[in-house]
Amino acid sequence: MKKIIAANWKLNPTTLKDAQKLAASITRTKKNTVVLCPPNIYLSQVSYPLLGAQDCFWQDKGAFTGQTSPLQLKDLGVKYCIVGHSERRAVGETDGQINFKLRALLEHKIIPILCVGYGTSVDQDDLEVVDVLRGQLDVDLKDVNLASVIVAYEPVWAIGTGHNATLEHAEKISIFIKAKYGVKKVLYGGSVNGVNAGGFLSQQHVDGLLVGGASLVAAQFNEIINI
Ligand code: 13P
Repeated sequence: MKKIIAANWKLNPTTLKDAQKLAASITRTKKNTVVLCPPNIYLSQVSYPLLGAQDCFWQDKGAFTGQTSPLQLKDLGVKYCIVGHSERRAVGETDGQINFKLRALLEHKIIPILCVGYGTSVDQDDLEVVDVLRGQLDVDLKDVNLASVIVAYEPVWAIGTGHNATLEHAEKISIFIKAKYGVKKVLYGGSVNGVNAGGFLSQQHVDGLLVGGASLVAAQFNEIINI
């Protein structure tokens, strides 16, 4: 079974030339479904079989300064869109807004990668994590057709820290999300690298990875997507 491996480049790189260079150095592998998510501003000029956006607005057009609409993404051939990343939640994005975005994306047949996650430290109690995830997912997925929604579980303490979750924790949370919400695919994200990726990908209920830092280093990302 193919896994989904998405690269979240976040606010990197700082020039179009570097973005094109990075995309060109990522293998076109058939082993897994690989999605590159560069900054929205580069989407029309970066070439890769599957591209994703890092965010979008819920309206198609109109007086919404600075926003990107799902219609515009669709027009560029963008097939996926990350929604509700913890770095967006940290600057005020709410679950209600995330729900609007999911519905708008699905209406235009763009596959949402909905990020959820919680935890300020590795020692966080699993029950507490599940409680917070429930609060996020109850609202995020309200009246949403789940058939093509991908959820990415990213413990906040694991993002960009070099400390990844245990395989057991990732598997356990994936099972919870699938069982409770009927979601078909759950990815893990948080300090994934060439060394630990294989372990996550071998978990039955972890359907892939959302990779940040390691996706900016072509050699590392190529290693991950060719596992
Ligand atoms: P890192 O892989 O850098 O920890 O980032 C994870 C992430 O936030 C992907 O969306």
